[in-house]
Amino acid sequence: MRKISFKLGLLFFVFIFGIETVLFASLYFTLVHSRIVEEFEQLLARGNSHRDVLEQNYDRSTLEHVVMMESEAETDVAITDEKGDVLYFSDHILPFAKKIIKRTNKKIPRDGMIVQKNWQKESHISTVSPIQIDGKIKGYVYMFQDTNSIQNMIDKLKHHFIVVGILSIFLTIITIAFLSRAITIPLIRMKQATEKLSKGDFSVRLQVKGEDELAELGKSIQTLAKDLEYLKKERKEFIASISHELRTPLTYVKGYADIARRPHIDEEERNRYLSIIYEEAEHIQKLVKDLFELAQLDQHSFQIHKEPTNLCSFLKKVYDKMYPAFQSRKMSLVYDCDQNIIVHIDQKRFEQVMINLLDNALKHSDEGSTVSIDVRAENKKVVMIVSDEGTGIPEEDLPHIFERLYRVDKSRSRASGGTGLGLAIVKEIIEAHGGSIYAESIYGKGTKMIITLQER
Ligand SMILES: Nc1ncnc2c1ncn2[C@@H]1O[C@H](COP(=O)(O)OP(=O)(O)OP(=O)(O)O)[C@@H](O)[C@H]1O
Ligand SMILES: [Mg+2]
Repeated sequence: MRKISFKLGLLFFVFIFGIETVLFASLYFTLVHSRIVEEFEQLLARGNSHRDVLEQNYDRSTLEHVVMMESEAETDVAITDEKGDVLYFSDHILPFAKKIIKRTNKKIPRDGMIVQKNWQKESHISTVSPIQIDGKIKGYVYMFQDTNSIQNMIDKLKHHFIVVGILSIFLTIITIAFLSRAITIPLIRMKQATEKLSKGDFSVRLQVKGEDELAELGKSIQTLAKDLEYLKKERKEFIASISHELRTPLTYVKGYADIARRPHIDEEERNRYLSIIYEEAEHIQKLVKDLFELAQLDQHSFQIHKEPTNLCSFLKKVYDKMYPAFQSRKMSLVYDCDQNIIVHIDQKRFEQVMINLLDNALKHSDEGSTVSIDVRAENKKVVMIVSDEGTGIPEEDLPHIFERLYRVDKSRSRASGGTGLGLAIVKEIIEAHGGSIYAESIYGKGTKMIITLQER
């Protein structure tokens, strides 16, 4: 389950290990180099200082004193005359000294020089300093140092480096393990959360801290979970209300059909029951038609075919269609618009919108009242207002009227054939046009439906 943290950790480790190796190696080689250079410098300085003493007092006792000093120290000395014959030497250096002296036939500078520098292979390193009295070479001081001590020092250094190296690898591994876990834990949690989501468990809650990309992702998953949970709840409620909506007319149909099929019932009564059954069947038919229409609108599978439309002539058509219905209820319908307003709308769909709104206004108004349609164009927008002087909508219902199957007065609008889907369809269509709709209403005074469209 920790695959990603392992991969990430391994990647980090390879890179950091590479960097550490390069750094350690370069540190090691510079350190070794500078320590060796130091050893040579010290040896040469020691030889030079013996030479200085001898230049001041070149006599037997000083010579013996120098040799004696060196037999006490870790270094050795050999002093030759100007021809290279060994005069004095300390300890058992003679065979090696002879070999070196024989090889040294170059001109030796005043500050001396290194004559044997291979500390890795040879038993000693060596320097030489010339003794010069009154401008004439009197002899040479050869200094020797056992390379074992240098090897020892290098070995110790190596040992330290190995210890520190292992320690730092160990610390690197711990740090990387910790870090990669810290980075991947939120990812793993999110993965588990999405797995739960896909199984239909929307109760997942992620703890997200910070503002980085991971936190953003966490928040998105959280929002997704909440949205899905909401959708699930809404769907459940919607199905519950549909079955409720269907149950009532079906109960009527079943009940009246049962009575109507009884044998000893007079014709007139039977006809009454049959017409009730017919009305209820019509209601179910409208409900199913509206639901189907909404489902289509929802899936965005419907296409709106916008065309440039003169709003005024469009309203005239709607007016002509609706006028008889208003007249039969002794109501007046008026519209007021500017000839120049052109909107891009799907005429068939938009006619549906207007008829729905006018039908609502008609249903909820008293005889003799007026319903008016006003159109205004203001900064690239067209605002259409359908207002009535009817019953109005109570304040607490106003936010819900665009919801599916929502009706303020269930029994009354049922009697008038309402399904509560009209405004939901209206809203979907207007939003598909890129517009918006909202309602303003004063209970007892009247209602205004306000549509805003882009003028283009
Ligand atoms: N102009 C209005 N005046 C008063 N109430 C209204 C008005 N328009 C809508 N309503 C209220 O909003 C509810 C929802 O309206 P909607 O058009 O969605 O459903 P409906 O008219 O009941 O059914 P349908 O339109 O499907 O026949 C209505 O039941 C009604 O209570
Ligand atoms: Mg309606």
